[in-house]
Amino acid sequence: MRSKLKALFLRHGWRRRQPLLDDARGDAGIGTLFRTQGIGDSHLLRLSNCIDVVDGIQLTKVTRSDAPSLVKHLNDIEFYDNTCSIPHPYTTSDATIFINSVLDFEKEHGLQRDWAIRNPEGEQIGGIGLLYSHGMKSHRSEIGYWLAKTCWNQGIMTSVLMRFVEHIFSMTHFSRLEAQVFKGNDASCRVLEKAGFHREGLIRHAYLKEGKYLDTHLYAVLKPSSGRNSVSSL
Ligand SMILES: CC(C)(COP(=O)(O)OP(=O)(O)OC[C@H]1O[C@@H](n2cnc3c(N)ncnc32)[C@H](O)[C@@H]1OP(=O)(O)O)[C@@H](O)C(=O)NCCC(=O)NCCS
Repeated sequence: MRSKLKALFLRHGWRRRQPLLDDARGDAGIGTLFRTQGIGDSHLLRLSNCIDVVDGIQLTKVTRSDAPSLVKHLNDIEFYDNTCSIPHPYTTSDATIFINSVLDFEKEHGLQRDWAIRNPEGEQIGGIGLLYSHGMKSHRSEIGYWLAKTCWNQGIMTSVLMRFVEHIFSMTHFSRLEAQVFKGNDASCRVLEKAGFHREGLIRHAYLKEGKYLDTHLYAVLKPSSGRNSVSSL
């Protein structure tokens, strides 16, 4: 983990915006996408083909042919500002590094960590994934997500998130899903609230990015049978 981050930093960090945390912790994060651990994983999510969301929007596996769409949509400073894992400018090399990390993870563990959000034409217009941020045997995980700017404010991510949460709770042992949102990212807070997540508090100085401490709102949703504030109570 650390060596991968270090390699990324050495390649890009000094001359472009690379969203490495200053302490390079590599644990829970807003879109920390490179974490892997050894596991006994019989209870985790096997590779699934396709999750239908709404109006032809689907969640499917990330493939090598998604690189151009990733560059087209993620090369925007707002994605860098609101996450810990998306560099700026976002290049083909960044897309390739990400796709390789997804495919390596799937090959190593036989599990799905990342899903491409696709429009009815099959183009990748976003992403959502589990971060396995508390270890792969844990009952809880942080999630991360993004959507192409041309698709914002149409309710797409709310629909995706609701379907994703339902899928994860029905197919895995996870009983708690969490999201951390940088203070000021009101659209993401709103999406989480619409999808049934509850705001549990403000984590002060949660991240150190570019020499500045950043606070995050902590959101979580519980599996319906596992307690109050779950999706079933909405
Ligand atoms: C966060 C994000 C995924 C939202 O996707 P989306 O499909 O536009 O979300 P939805 O349309 O389902 O819902 C957006 C809601 O936020 C509201 N909203 C949008 N911009 C807002 C703002 N600046 N302040 C307050 N609310 C805002 C919308 O009005 C809508 O709420 P409503 O239905 O009550 O009107 C998208 O903005 C994004 O990819 N952002 C950059 C990456 C990111 O922040 N990822 C999450 C990291 S935690």
